[in-house]
This record gives sequence, C-alpha cells and structure tokens, in this order.
Amino acid sequence: MAPSVTNPKTNGTLAAAKDRRPMTVPDFMAAKSRGTRLTMLTAYDYTLARILDDAGVDAILVGDSLGMVMQGEPHSLKVTLNEMIYHTRLVARGIRTSLLVADMPFMSYQVSPQHALESAGRLVKEGGAHAVKLEGGERSARAVEAITSADIPVMGHVGLTPQSVHRLGGFRVQRDAARLLDDALALSQAGAFALVVECIPVDLAEQIRKSVKIPTIGIGAGAGCDGQVLVTHDMLGLYGDLHPRFVKQYADVGSSIAHAVEEYCREVREGEFPGPEHSFRS
Ligand code: KIV
Repeated sequence: MAPSVTNPKTNGTLAAAKDRRPMTVPDFMAAKSRGTRLTMLTAYDYTLARILDDAGVDAILVGDSLGMVMQGEPHSLKVTLNEMIYHTRLVARGIRTSLLVADMPFMSYQVSPQHALESAGRLVKEGGAHAVKLEGGERSARAVEAITSADIPVMGHVGLTPQSVHRLGGFRVQRDAARLLDDALALSQAGAFALVVECIPVDLAEQIRKSVKIPTIGIGAGAGCDGQVLVTHDMLGLYGDLHPRFVKQYADVGSSIAHAVEEYCREVREGEFPGPEHSFRS
C-alpha cells in the first residue's frame, strides 16, 4: 500500500503522489467490480491540473463547460475542437497519475462516425488525452463504435446533456427512465468504458448503475453511482454565475482571491508594498 503524506496544499492525508501508479482505463473500469468509488473533476489549465493530480483525483476532465467557466458564455455550444485541443494540451502537462479525459465539443462528432473518429484522434494526438467523452445515448452509439475501433477509449454522457440545452429548454432534471436506460445500454454495448449520468433522479441512477457493467459517474444523480464528477470551479466557489443544487462547495476560493486583491491594492496605494524584503540593493 502507498505510504501517506500530509499535503500542505490540501491539509489532507494523501497517498504520496510519487508512489501512485498512473490511472489507466482498465483500472478505472475495474474499480466498479472492486466497489471503489471513482473521483473525477474538471480542469482547463496546467496549474489547476497539477493541484488536482497531486491531490489524487482519479480522472481529470477537460470539460466543454470551459465555454461557461473560462469563456463566460451561457452554454457550451460555441466551444471549438481547436479550443478543446489547446486546453487539453495545457492540462496534459500538469498530469502525472490522473486519467485525462477530453470532452468532444458540439458538432465535432454528430455529423458522421468518420468525423467523430477524426475529432477524437486530434484530441489524443494533439491534445494528449487518454480518452474522450461525448454526449448522447443511442444517437451517439455509432460514433462511439467508430472511435473505439481505433482503440480510443470513450466515456459516454447521458441524462442532462448540456449540448442539448435548446432542445431540452434549459438545464433541467431528466426523468424519462425507459429512454435513459436504453441510452445507457446502447453506449455500453457500443464500447464506452464509463458513463457520466447527469441530473437524473437517484433511483434511476441506481437502476442504470446496476444495468451496465461499466462505471457510472454521477453529477446531480445522487450517491448510487460508481463515482462522482463536479466542475472544479463550482466546488471551489470560483464560478458564481450558476448555483446548481447538486454542487457542494468545498472552499470559497473566489472570496479568498477577492480579499487578497483588495489587500494588494490597499498596500500598493499606501506605499506598504513592495517592502525592503521584496526589493534589490545595488
Ligand atoms: O463539461 C463538463 O464539465 C462536463 C461535466 C459537468 C460532466 O461534462
């Protein structure tokens, strides 16, 4: 068993990063049968990826939520494949042991299975992703088959699929049990190695977990999943435009930054900073 250390950044007891083995897709899948709950968080840059990886998160998702969190858009639809590749490359540099999953943005996989394969290939070759994630159930099964035929692992995403925001009429809880079960089974049969289930009732998430052999990673789907994912900026209190009920805020980093910046401005204005200890002598 890996020795434990206290990480000064998190003040928590963690398996030493240098002793952790990189998380692979087979390890990720095996966690389900072992009954080990999986953790996934989003990152869009090197610095945050490095912190998450050091803290021992199993998978880091370069989510197309960056459209909202990084770009300030009301949804993820404008995010391009080139932007996803760019952010995936930044995150890849910060990763030592976490599995790196890159989201396939809107219109990078819907047109044809061939196009989906080409887009996924770019995320792996140019971005450094270990796996890709795409949205949609049955309608995306052929894309999953095409991508996995090139040995690129695919994570599915069912329930509230944010790229369908206009059809769904907003970011709403999805309750069509029969359709969601069919979607989950279709993706699993098409070769997906894991499944994000977003914003669905707890009992339905539990039913899906029991119906598929691959791990289900919940967000707004309760505790009956094989793992959980959150948008890191939400759980750290860095992004305040939306406050989904399913987010637990573990820190208030936004307020800490605001206080630090106020203090910096005050000290500069009052001539307190820089002091002699921050200055050089001739
Ligand atoms: O884009 C994203 O960050 C996601 C997660 C919320 C699952 O898809």
